Amino acid sequence: MLLGVNIDHIAVLREARKVNDPNLLEAALFACHFCDQITIHVREDRRHTNERDLKDLIKHCKNPINLECALDNEILDLACTLKPKRVTLVPEKREELTTEGGLYLDHENLNSSIKKLKQADIEISLFIDPNLENIQKASSLKVDFIELHTGLYANLYNAIFSNILKTPYKIKELDLNSKILEQKLEEELNSINLCALKAKELGLKVAAGHGLNYKNVQKIAKIKAIDELNIGQSIIARSVFVGLKEAILEMKALINE
Ligand code: PXP
Repeated sequence: MLLGVNIDHIAVLREARKVNDPNLLEAALFACHFCDQITIHVREDRRHTNERDLKDLIKHCKNPINLECALDNEILDLACTLKPKRVTLVPEKREELTTEGGLYLDHENLNSSIKKLKQADIEISLFIDPNLENIQKASSLKVDFIELHTGLYANLYNAIFSNILKTPYKIKELDLNSKILEQKLEEELNSINLCALKAKELGLKVAAGHGLNYKNVQKIAKIKAIDELNIGQSIIARSVFVGLKEAILEMKALINE
């Protein structure tokens, strides 16, 4: 299974002081030795990465660049000029901390965005919630990839197995009792599995990501129909303790065990 490392979280640290430290390109070039792809989310508000970062990564990184972006003409035009290997279309809300749900596949700008990217010969992925209706729609939109949103799975897992109750971070699943949480976790894993299988059957390549960490990743990595995982927060957080190389290699080992 391939691993894309989402490097936005390194840029978050840089932006905290508005200095070029840590240097994002240097970090990405280093990460390239140990992972299969670099993923970068250039948000409409440029809160962490920006066009300069994207340009540098595409020019210098040997690994494919997967640009996550919203249905935003300015960023899509930039993508068509700079040509990352792949664009993953994601929904975006200014007020969210991170991408909260999957893309709405009946969005009025979706067809034109796909057309634009196809004309520029860029691989297209849609970040979607794992349900079969979305898989059928993604297939009819004739994209190359889907990325299954594992956020709900990760929240459920955290609510059951972690000490998240002791943190200020509140997720709505915490209010459910443990039996229901366990049942919902199984259902969500089952949906992800079924969606991955259906997508494969329809000729789509399958990625998954969001909220995956060293504890919850293996149940997802066992799903054979998933080709690739995109992981950011947990790898960069782990790198504080063991360094970026070890953090990536530990995750690689877990997903390929
Ligand atoms: N995949 C997509 C489409 C995302 O938007 C994100 C978050 O930017 C990730 C993967 C990585 O999520 P995390 O940082 O929680 O690992």
